[in-house]
Amino acid sequence: MPVQPSPSAEPEQPDDAVPGAAEEGATITPYRDGPLIVRGDFRLVDQDGAEIDPGRRTVALCRCGKSGIKPFCDGTHKRAGFSAPSAPSRPRPAAQLRDVAGD
Ligand code: FES
Repeated sequence: MPVQPSPSAEPEQPDDAVPGAAEEGATITPYRDGPLIVRGDFRLVDQDGAEIDPGRRTVALCRCGKSGIKPFCDGTHKRAGFSAPSAPSRPRPAAQLRDVAGD
């Protein structure tokens, strides 16, 4: 029987291994070649503002676009060969960030 991946497939490190994980608020960590790991106090809502139950305090959000359980990661990024750095490949000017956010 095939094993279904779950949102708990990531992260591979415990919370206490992440710098800043004990701070208040949320920490979002882009994992190299993987999802966005969200830890801490956060609310997850859809584009209309409706609550999405994360089911846990640490979740993996898909950034490869291939997950079958979006917005959560189901591990498909590994089979898809998704590649992305953890850190930004280059800094973006603040004006560009405001344009993306629609401000
Ligand atoms: S980042 Fe994991 S399935 Fe997309």
